[in-house]
Amino acid sequence: MKVPYQPKTLRQIASVHGTPTYVYFEEIIRDRCRKLKDKVSLLPHKLLYAMKANYNPAILKIICEEGIGIDAVSIGELELAKRVGFAPEDVLYSANSITDEEMHTAASYGSLFNIGELYRLARFGEAFPGTDVCIRLNPKVGAGHHEYVVTAGEKSKFGIPMEYLPEALEIAAKHRLKIIGIHQHIGSGILDIADLWSAVEVLLEAAPNFPDLTFINFGGGLGIPYRIGEASFDYDGFQQVLIPRIKEWSEVLPQQLAFWFEPGRYFVAEAGTLLTEVTMLKQNGIGSRTFAGTNSGQNHLIRPMFYNAYHEIFNLSNPTGILYNYDVTGNICESGDRFAKDRPIQEIRVNDILAILDAGAYGYAMSSLYNLRPFPEEVLVRKTGEVEVVRKRVSPTSLIDQLLSETTD
Ligand SMILES: Cc1ncc(COP(=O)(O)O)c(C=O)c1O
Repeated sequence: MKVPYQPKTLRQIASVHGTPTYVYFEEIIRDRCRKLKDKVSLLPHKLLYAMKANYNPAILKIICEEGIGIDAVSIGELELAKRVGFAPEDVLYSANSITDEEMHTAASYGSLFNIGELYRLARFGEAFPGTDVCIRLNPKVGAGHHEYVVTAGEKSKFGIPMEYLPEALEIAAKHRLKIIGIHQHIGSGILDIADLWSAVEVLLEAAPNFPDLTFINFGGGLGIPYRIGEASFDYDGFQQVLIPRIKEWSEVLPQQLAFWFEPGRYFVAEAGTLLTEVTMLKQNGIGSRTFAGTNSGQNHLIRPMFYNAYHEIFNLSNPTGILYNYDVTGNICESGDRFAKDRPIQEIRVNDILAILDAGAYGYAMSSLYNLRPFPEEVLVRKTGEVEVVRKRVSPTSLIDQLLSETTD
């Protein structure tokens, strides 16, 4: 069984701050930032953070201090990145399916656009002729932990398919757009570097088509091991095989390029734990499975329900307890509202505190107000051990005050 990072600290936080609460460890985030920089250090590089994974401003500040830029996908993300202190040149705007209005608003932030549709490229060219742009290509090779997170290949809405490259170049020429970057992001939760390499190769081969090219962005997608014993993304292979191969390729390219990566999950997933309290135990007759109900649910961490994703669950209140099998469920009125199915966990009692691990990415960021239950609190454990509330818990009455202030009769 995977043991949570600093279980004593987690127990203390649960007793002082209550639950449900997301806890993040600054130390782990900084460690991941530095590790990745080290892995790509052989290449001229730039790292971005896909802030959709976790947009808490305190986390963004840490990432900014580490010298990492931002992959932003909405005006909200651009605005938050700006307010946190990211410079426009360290932000890449990769929104999809945008309107002309959004395009004009986004342009006022001064960041480079990454465009993955011919129609949008043409509209961008008409509006901003003669400017720099990055284009997102679809290398026809997708990968990921679930079909919903595969973002390249024939079934994906993302990126300009390679066979439309001549059209993309024609549009760029017509509007004097300088394609200074090419981009791909083939999916999320990739564990095998061979998947990444097959897409990387497609972009490297395409590079000579772009005389103004200054960088190639290979996207994010680096997976983390959610289960004990699960292979992690092959970082040694990444550093010792994939990066040197890119370097080798780049040496025969006519121009000197920088190579970008933009993970989200890798930087924050393992830094976050969701703490929840057990509110009920029940069985549906003799021999039935045991349900351990909690005060959180799909509204706070939708990954198990949405992707059938696995998150380790550790009973912080009974760490040495005998293992029994449980369905760990939430308090939302949906049968699929379940964190784990038939899972061996240390014996659970009512009021026990459960730690749901590796929840720092696509956890809070994908949460909702479904059933009008408020969001969890978010707490950051500093490197010094200091515990800071980085997003306050809102009471149900304040939530409804807010709702009524936004609605009209
Ligand atoms: C364009 C783009 N870049 C990067 C990412 C980050 O992916 P991951 O969190 O798997 O690294 C995403 C995630 O959806 C994305 O859409």
